[in-house]
Amino acid sequence: MFSRAVSTASVAGRRAMSGSAGGFKVAVAGAAGGIGQPLSLLLKNNMNIGHLSLFDIVNTPGVAADLSHIPTPAVVTGHTGPEEVGKAFDGCDVVVIPAGVPRKPGMTRDDLFNTNAGIVANLADAIAKHCPKAHVLIISNPVNSTVPITAEVMKKAGVYDPQRLFGVTSLDVLRANTFVAEALGRNPAETDVTVIGGHAGTTILPLLSQVEGADFSPEQIAALTHRIQFGGDEVVQAKDGAGSATLSMAAAGARFTSSLLRALNGEAVSECAFVQSTVTDLPFFSTRVHLGTSGVDKIDGYGTLSAAEQANFDEMIPTLKAQIEKGIAFAAAR
Ligand code: NAD
Ligand code: LMR
Repeated sequence: MFSRAVSTASVAGRRAMSGSAGGFKVAVAGAAGGIGQPLSLLLKNNMNIGHLSLFDIVNTPGVAADLSHIPTPAVVTGHTGPEEVGKAFDGCDVVVIPAGVPRKPGMTRDDLFNTNAGIVANLADAIAKHCPKAHVLIISNPVNSTVPITAEVMKKAGVYDPQRLFGVTSLDVLRANTFVAEALGRNPAETDVTVIGGHAGTTILPLLSQVEGADFSPEQIAALTHRIQFGGDEVVQAKDGAGSATLSMAAAGARFTSSLLRALNGEAVSECAFVQSTVTDLPFFSTRVHLGTSGVDKIDGYGTLSAAEQANFDEMIPTLKAQIEKGIAFAAAR
């Protein structure tokens, strides 16, 4: 269902049509959900987007019609169900995936694997078929497993490009910035903490020893690290069965998408993200990634760790390895 007619023109053609700076086609898969709706709202206001394509298994006509009344250049189209995924993804420059079920209190992200692994794998099939050159941004949990699943599906289809696959860990960075700024009495908008590892509990490792000008006590480091690692659980408990972080995740997803689009337009931008990496022995790891016109341009190491960070790092590696391998095994068995 199209809220305004669009053609599948080239990026240049779409730029001319939309009058926007970048004119990129960006799809959101899971667009009618708790994250999908506010994320789509934020993306509608992104001047680098010429076509915002909303895909879900329900309710996209309403969300698309609603967003299409906002006077920004992005043309909005809504597509519902597997039979419309081709139209949704055709010619996309970026596909953002927050499709799948969220946690309830008492669950780990890994408890979502059985439902979300298949959803993400099917979406990866569709991307491989309809927009094999798209940059793919995975939000669906467990990210530590759904990113390797996507890589394997794309490999099987012969279209995998590690420069274009990202696990979105920006929410961990936003939380770290907020909590660290609060502790230091600083402006959170001017705080940028590096968070490495993956996106689940102890696999999330904020590098507080690298925060400029901070002199935290060991107790403060332990408390802040724990709060950043389990910030997701804080929201799940507060929502009390009604889901997990949606609004802060929409802000995080919009920030990462915006950074990527700026980079695709030639600006120098860096973000922490869970990508294929040789920084550790694991095939995927999150550190600061420099983005360029082809996606991942350069991946930073993690620098010098404090003794406490090194202990957390050593503890995290086997857990993250098992979660990555679970994703790879799932894709191999499909
Ligand atoms: P939600 O249930 O509110 O929305 C999910 C949406 O996905 C729904 O609209 C649903 O219809 C749709 N969907 C289901 N199967 C689909 C398919 N095959 N194709 C397209 N759409 C499909 O959930 P939510 O709160 O938006 O969370 C979505 C996911 O994001 C969860 O897995 C959650 O754990 C994850 N999440 C990740 C982060 C992160 O930091 N990476 C943060 C928050 C939430
Ligand atoms: C988060 O960090 O908020 C998300 O991964 C959702 C969750 O399940 O905690």
